[in-house]
Amino acid sequence: MACLNPAQLRKFQEDGFLVLEGFLSADECVAMQQRIGEIVAEMDVPLHCRTEFSTQEEEQLRAQGSTDYFLSSGDKIRFFFEKGVFDKKGNFLVPPEKAINKIGHVSSHQDASFLYTEPLGRVLGMWIALEDATLENGCLWFIPGSHTSGVARRMVRAPAGSVPGTSFLGSEPARDNSLFVPTPVQRGALVLIHGEVVHKSEPNLSDRSRQAYTFHLMEASGTIWSPENWLQPTAELPFPPLYT
Ligand code: FE2
Repeated sequence: MACLNPAQLRKFQEDGFLVLEGFLSADECVAMQQRIGEIVAEMDVPLHCRTEFSTQEEEQLRAQGSTDYFLSSGDKIRFFFEKGVFDKKGNFLVPPEKAINKIGHVSSHQDASFLYTEPLGRVLGMWIALEDATLENGCLWFIPGSHTSGVARRMVRAPAGSVPGTSFLGSEPARDNSLFVPTPVQRGALVLIHGEVVHKSEPNLSDRSRQAYTFHLMEASGTIWSPENWLQPTAELPFPPLYT
């Protein structure tokens, strides 16, 4: 496998992110999209995780169901949807594959707010564009160099059985929108994302989907994975080691 050259490594260290175009071939992107299509076609989302109820008691039940669905998602394939995808009864308002296509928009954040380690700086995001990511369909935006000033807030688990199942320590500071730099990439590009760099993507309001495959790597040696993180390894699926 190819390594970063010294200039690429320096750029990543300065900016907190790095674009590597052509990481996957077009054929590899197509194969991954086909597999995503199969998974979505077999998708089964429990009704209580997608229905809007009216009474307060039912509201709590819905929240509890969604909380369990979220907190136990570490070793399973779970589906999360944008607002406006379901009607009041939980029926899809748009075809499910289109609903998934719209997923992936996230307001500005640092990954370490959700995947906290001690020390910091041990988590690397891998974001692979399976289709061209453009200004119109929701490419990533970064504040270059923002990975050096710590973590603004953390999402932590509440005691088991509580609703909601998570809460935040600290708050996301107001950030000057003009500091964000758009990062459009072509299909097959890999974007490396430092765990503390501030990034976001805008809602995809275009008629072109922007599928991406994303996951995180952690340098486990000498690192404490916070037991308060929402995502926890399980007996069925421990975090798989890349090397030992
Ligand atoms: Fe992120």
